[in-house]
Amino acid sequence: MTVLVVLGGQYGDEGKGKIADYLGHFYDIGIRPTAGDNAGHTVVVDGKKLSMRHLYSAAASANFSIIGDDVLLNLETFFKEIDMFAKAGHDLSNKVFVSQRAELVLPYHIAADSINESGKRAFGTTKRGVGPAMADRVSRIGLRVEDCFDLDGLAAKIKDRMDTFNKVSTAIHGETSFMDPQAVIDQILPLAKRLQPFIKNTTLLIHQAVKENRSILVEGAQAAMLDLTYGAYPYVTSSRPVSSGLMGGVGIGPRYVNTVLSVIKPYQTRVGIGPVMAEMVGDEDETAKHIREVGGERGVNTGRDRRIMWLDTVVLRYSNMINGTNVHALMKLDVLDDRETIKVCTGYRLNGQVIKDMPMLSELANCEPVYQELPGWQTPTSHIRSYADLPQQAKDLITLIEQETEVPIAIISVGPDREYTIEREHVAEMGLKPGQSYQNKNLGEPTP
Ligand code: IMP
Repeated sequence: MTVLVVLGGQYGDEGKGKIADYLGHFYDIGIRPTAGDNAGHTVVVDGKKLSMRHLYSAAASANFSIIGDDVLLNLETFFKEIDMFAKAGHDLSNKVFVSQRAELVLPYHIAADSINESGKRAFGTTKRGVGPAMADRVSRIGLRVEDCFDLDGLAAKIKDRMDTFNKVSTAIHGETSFMDPQAVIDQILPLAKRLQPFIKNTTLLIHQAVKENRSILVEGAQAAMLDLTYGAYPYVTSSRPVSSGLMGGVGIGPRYVNTVLSVIKPYQTRVGIGPVMAEMVGDEDETAKHIREVGGERGVNTGRDRRIMWLDTVVLRYSNMINGTNVHALMKLDVLDDRETIKVCTGYRLNGQVIKDMPMLSELANCEPVYQELPGWQTPTSHIRSYADLPQQAKDLITLIEQETEVPIAIISVGPDREYTIEREHVAEMGLKPGQSYQNKNLGEPTP
């Protein structure tokens, strides 16, 4: 049995969706264990681009996939995606199962997120209600997917939670923040009823799969630096994108995980506010604009411009340490194709000393990035399918990342679609043979 965890190694938007879709064809089951519809990924299925937030990236080709225990489920988003797949010719009704423990994100959570973001304590969230829904879960007043089996009970609980919401929000923000509980009940109940056949005791399903020696791909959302505990707190999401956090939403012990694959870009981006190092500002604003254009670095969810940073190997070392990373997938190499020089932040200067490891967050404000500059390759790479054919300067960048992190790069992506992918010998860490993946497999067929 193989369990592969695919996660984000930086600040999110590294391209986990492409990797999960690409590798998903080798795994029987896919699990999205955490996060809400604040996440967003686009995959190409039968030549059609499909943008998803809740569903597993390889939902169409997996035997089945699971929305896991720590997911914050927005019912409207979920059914939009199910309907989008149906329109594209994939009926997922018997192939997607939702954990009874997942949390419902309701309209008042979304309203509360927007209200919070309009105040002086804004974190630059996606306003999808994730923080307020998680706060309800921790306060033990959340509504769970299992509540959808009892529609009258669900309606009563919504009314109860919204009475409190309205009291607090109208007292602080005035009458305009009032939401009609009945309108919310009328909106949610038909969706809750529609959800019933999707709800399963996913813990048992997953353990059965483990017993049967099936292969499982755990698809993370967001990334290490957005983790509630290990990220750049408080500018983080409310769930746990690191490997241990992801496994918390799967419900199997860590001893079953074979490989942790951290997806990274040769630069970094972040949506929203918060401290970052190596940001391209001032003189480097032009480079940032270029990367934003060529790399499409705008939020899938919010349409916001992403902040652009040079690659920071302090972040990578930290993220690999916490995640127990075995291998990297390096995405979007082609975005740097025409750069004359490429900078890599390999350490921070703190009190006159160069440090290589992530300091405490309180020390970050006193740190300055220390860069290593490499010549760019200034030639297209998107047509390349073998590591040997990459320009020497690109190989030098890859070698530098590997030396700095002591983690091999197994997969290199040079374009958005599946075929724009280079596999290296390190894919053996995932039980694959180099070159076995895209070229030699009929990707349309699920494994029996
Ligand atoms: P929230 O998850 O909507 O509460 O937002 C908290 C922080 O996480 C904000 O900085 C968001 O921009 C960021 N964030 C949440 N989801 C994603 C994602 O999928 N990619 C990148 N950033 C994200």
